[in-house]
Amino acid sequence: MVVYILLLYLSALLQVTLSGKHDIYNGYTVEAVVIQEYDDVTKLQHLEAELDLDVWHYGSVGRRHAHVMVSKENKQTFLWKLDLYGLQHYVYIADVVTALEQHEEDIIARKIPRNGEAVPYNDYPRFAQVNEYLERIATDYPNIATLVDAGNSFEGRPIKYLKISTTNFMDPSKPIYFMDAAIHAREWVTPPVALYTIHRLVEDLRDSERDLLDIDWIIFPLVNPDGYEYSHTDERLWRRTRSYRPEINETCYGVDGNRNFDVNFNTVGVSPDHCSNTYPGPEAFSEPETGYVRDVLLEYIDRIQIFLDIHSYGNYVLYGFGNASLPTNAVSLHHVGASMGAVIDSKKLSKATYYLVGNSNLVLYQSSGSAQDYGQAVGVPFSYTLELPGYEYGFLVPPDYIEQINIETWPGIVDSARLAKLFYNARNQN
Ligand SMILES: *[C@@H]1O[C@H](CO)[C@@H](O)[C@H](O)[C@H]1NC(C)=O
Ligand SMILES: *[C@@H]1O[C@H](CO)[C@@H](O)[C@H](O)[C@H]1NC(C)=O
Repeated sequence: MVVYILLLYLSALLQVTLSGKHDIYNGYTVEAVVIQEYDDVTKLQHLEAELDLDVWHYGSVGRRHAHVMVSKENKQTFLWKLDLYGLQHYVYIADVVTALEQHEEDIIARKIPRNGEAVPYNDYPRFAQVNEYLERIATDYPNIATLVDAGNSFEGRPIKYLKISTTNFMDPSKPIYFMDAAIHAREWVTPPVALYTIHRLVEDLRDSERDLLDIDWIIFPLVNPDGYEYSHTDERLWRRTRSYRPEINETCYGVDGNRNFDVNFNTVGVSPDHCSNTYPGPEAFSEPETGYVRDVLLEYIDRIQIFLDIHSYGNYVLYGFGNASLPTNAVSLHHVGASMGAVIDSKKLSKATYYLVGNSNLVLYQSSGSAQDYGQAVGVPFSYTLELPGYEYGFLVPPDYIEQINIETWPGIVDSARLAKLFYNARNQN
């Protein structure tokens, strides 16, 4: 009874706190667009710039529909242009505010019965909770886990990552698996997967997976904490960093972190509009956050065998380059990526779409300055973007799915680690 009243009270409180929080999305809808040929992607990219659209998902030619968030003001023009271009479309999310409120209620409802004791990898943790978890792991498992302070975010948040090694990173015969997540703030399902990886390697290492510690691991679960926190407190669908440079633009904050790396910087798949979700920034590595990812890559480049930059959504394993040129080892890249995707597919919910694997330009859209391309260009043999599932919710995946996403993704990570290690051993024998 007491619990019931408490729940009623909390849900009443919830209504009050939620109302108005998502006002900036009033009247917004998400439209699905059928992408039938490569040119359709280009048309969509033009419309994106022209009508200030927020493309949630670009779609994949002949296979996946695009998802585009559009304001009330631009909706008529957008739909009219789609008709003009002969692009079929339908409503994906009829009311973004309602979807956001439902999402938030799901998150709060999940926390209540757990008495606030949810582990961060099965939840949507805040930045402080991520750091607390990393600190606790480093304190409890000093023989294998080392916490590294990468430096501060633009707004001064201490960004941390964990190094996991049975040999304190001193054994050069071991390859390194480097994983990062949440360069894009709104992709909330990504930090849990990175944290779950830590959990499985350190707190819950199974006998059948002891060989994974023949690899050293660097796990960087929250690259863009400023954007991430802002997406919790202000704009749930915020994607960029939160840097502020009034001398460049007084009204717009942040850049697209995944266009900010020094590889083909500011060439294709970017927007010069300072407010755009694909604005690459004033120069490569203008953002301290992407600089920390670069620093890890360069410090350990001789041994990083695989780099997994985790995003959402759409179920993809992607590799370089964003300009459609293939790296010289494309066959092995495809082999490891396809195996990883297939292993995840075998564990996924049947309603989830299967993983598509391929060059990021050919499968999705053109891009430059991405983490994936940078890793490949500086010499990581296996550099990937992993796009986790969104199911029918896009970025607003209900928290009850997080455990499923962890459980299905983990065997894919294990598989990619083992395959990458085989290639590493073969390379070092020659
Ligand atoms: C800042 O960005 C806005 C939106 O793109 C634009 O209208 C404005 O002209 C920009 N200001 C400067 C100084 O470039
Ligand atoms: C695409 O980018 C890669 C990496 O920077 C580069 O090596 C390649 O020459 C580029 N291809 C074209 C066609 O520009």
